[in-house]
Amino acid sequence: EADFETILTETRGAVAIITLNRPKALNALNSVVMTELTAALSAYDKDESVAVVVLTGSEKAFAAGADIKEMQSLDFVDAYLGDFISGWDAVASFRKPLIAAVSGFALGGGCELAMMCDFIIASDTAKFGQPEITLGVIPGMGGSQRLTRAVGKAKAMDMVLTGRMMDAAESERAGLVSRVVEAEKLMDEALAAAVKIAAFPRAATLMAKEAVNRSFEATLSEGLRFERRVFQSLFATADQKEGMAAFVEKRKPAFSNR
Ligand code: CAA
Repeated sequence: EADFETILTETRGAVAIITLNRPKALNALNSVVMTELTAALSAYDKDESVAVVVLTGSEKAFAAGADIKEMQSLDFVDAYLGDFISGWDAVASFRKPLIAAVSGFALGGGCELAMMCDFIIASDTAKFGQPEITLGVIPGMGGSQRLTRAVGKAKAMDMVLTGRMMDAAESERAGLVSRVVEAEKLMDEALAAAVKIAAFPRAATLMAKEAVNRSFEATLSEGLRFERRVFQSLFATADQKEGMAAFVEKRKPAFSNR
């Protein structure tokens, strides 16, 4: 598969796996990682054979943040004109289901990258945090916004102001992660979820993602209207006919992604 310097890519059937791979820097997110990860995602968005992507890191670190060595010498004008973070927005606008499988450190930009995914499955060794304050800055890849929406003001303020880490159990209680599993079972669990999603009608999975994400952008009435219209539109698909016929006839559906 495509040759990258800082990520590994692999496809298993309709599931693609992207592994962050800068082991010596605990997968710190530099501009090469950003360019390569967003290129890989863009290719998977276009590739009809890929239904779902799992994004993971190493056992020790999903990612320990944006690359501090790369940012260290920037001044305001460099940061502002260079806008070096904005490329990461492409991860949040990836259209297909994207699952983060997190083991070890997910700090700063690492926590923020995981939160750009649709949901996070964590190993019991996972540690989440927004330690930017300890460096004299604040989260810059969405942490102050996505963490607050995920866990509420009290915990988000605690995390962002103290820079402390949450362990997996606290992260699950707070609603940041959807499941916690033993470290050895992390990839099995994430891949099983991905395989399950990949078997469902493609259009419905993308629309489901779009509808949930809409709740972060719209008022309740706008969001409900969007959901209703998208729900109604799925009745134009062959897979709605097949899914409902299969239920009534007590058989397995044979979806066609049409
Ligand atoms: N950037 C660059 N290099 C990093 C890094 C980062 N974010 N995190 C770790 N590394 C490097 C270390 O410099 C070290 O490299 P050397 O061997 O060359 O010295 C290597 O990875 C291993 O790290 P440690 O020796 O520190 O490993 P540890 O097990 O003792 O500690 C850790 C692990 C607690 C995660 C610690 O590495 C750490 O605190 N990392 C920084 C976490 C952080 O502050 N992240 C926020 C970054 S700012 C940000 O993300 C901004 C944003 O919102 C966009």
